Amino acid sequence: MENLDWASLGFNYRKTDCNARFYFRDGKWSDMEICESEYINMHMSAACLHYGLELFEGLKAFRGVDGKIRLFRVDENAKRLQSSARKLCLPVPTEKMFVDACCEVVRRNERFVPPYGTGASLYLRPLLIGTNPVLGVKAATEAMLIIFASPVGAYFKEGIKPIKVVVDREQDRSAPRGTGDVKVGGNYASSILSGEHAHQLGYSNVLYLDSVERKYIEECGAANFFGIRDGLYVTPKSTSILPSITNKSLRQLAADLGLKVEERQVPVDELARFTECGACGTAAVISPICKIVDLDTKKEYDFGDTVGEYSQKMYNMLQDIQYGRAEDKYGWTTIVE
Ligand code: PLP
Ligand code: COI
Repeated sequence: MENLDWASLGFNYRKTDCNARFYFRDGKWSDMEICESEYINMHMSAACLHYGLELFEGLKAFRGVDGKIRLFRVDENAKRLQSSARKLCLPVPTEKMFVDACCEVVRRNERFVPPYGTGASLYLRPLLIGTNPVLGVKAATEAMLIIFASPVGAYFKEGIKPIKVVVDREQDRSAPRGTGDVKVGGNYASSILSGEHAHQLGYSNVLYLDSVERKYIEECGAANFFGIRDGLYVTPKSTSILPSITNKSLRQLAADLGLKVEERQVPVDELARFTECGACGTAAVISPICKIVDLDTKKEYDFGDTVGEYSQKMYNMLQDIQYGRAEDKYGWTTIVE
């Protein structure tokens, strides 16, 4: 195993041994190629560089208590990548290509899968880009799917410690009929300015509102949002939110805990009624939120500095499945052999 200070890894890129690549040319996908280089040789007029014909995924492999390596819901990431590709009119990889390549990349980089008990994991980053040279705006005819890996720790330096979040209406992340529901680079590009602003003000993240009325909660940075109150797990529903696989899992776990799950519009005013709330995603896992400040209305919502009861329970249940400590009764994990 690689000799790294696993417990102090942040969410940063770190070189591993190899990555997997597929090329789409002449109307068909190549076989998988394993590549040791971290670089890609690309035409300066490639479609992904000019018109954002680019999308990605993010998932993790965990070394379990039994020493086995598990990928979490890799089939769901494969399906979401396909839906992103359809929306950008990029060639659509098969689910099998995606899953096989993820397993292969984990196998070949096994020495970078962090040891059990360090809280770290191996993050996989599948990337699909349009590569043919273009000047006019049109669909890509050539593409490349790359899957690489990087060992990571917590996304927020706070770990499971609660974060402070700001409501900022200056910049919208996505529009109702735009690309918010797929994982394309443009959504992240349009979140950088408000993200930087939030960091300057001392907040970890931005709580985005819907871009029509700026009244309903959408997402929390690069993560979905949930709130807990009166036996309810509430999470926003909108056409401009990325369907988070973590959130989908938490909805099941919340129901298992006896909470009623509501997926619906969540007015920003409802924040005053939640007893716990958090950001959830592959990178974020569950990041409980201790404080939300609305820059326009000057309202402040406090949820306390300690991790809420349900947030902690769901976090434990999720990680118990991911690390093989609990029965995987929904078949969420794929063991990489
Ligand atoms: N929302 C956005 C904008 C994201 O980038 C992510 C991260 O993938 C999520 C939500 C969480 O999705 P998931 O739980 O599938 O990682
Ligand atoms: C993830 O949670 O996997 C993400 O993609 C979030 C972010 C790092 C973009």
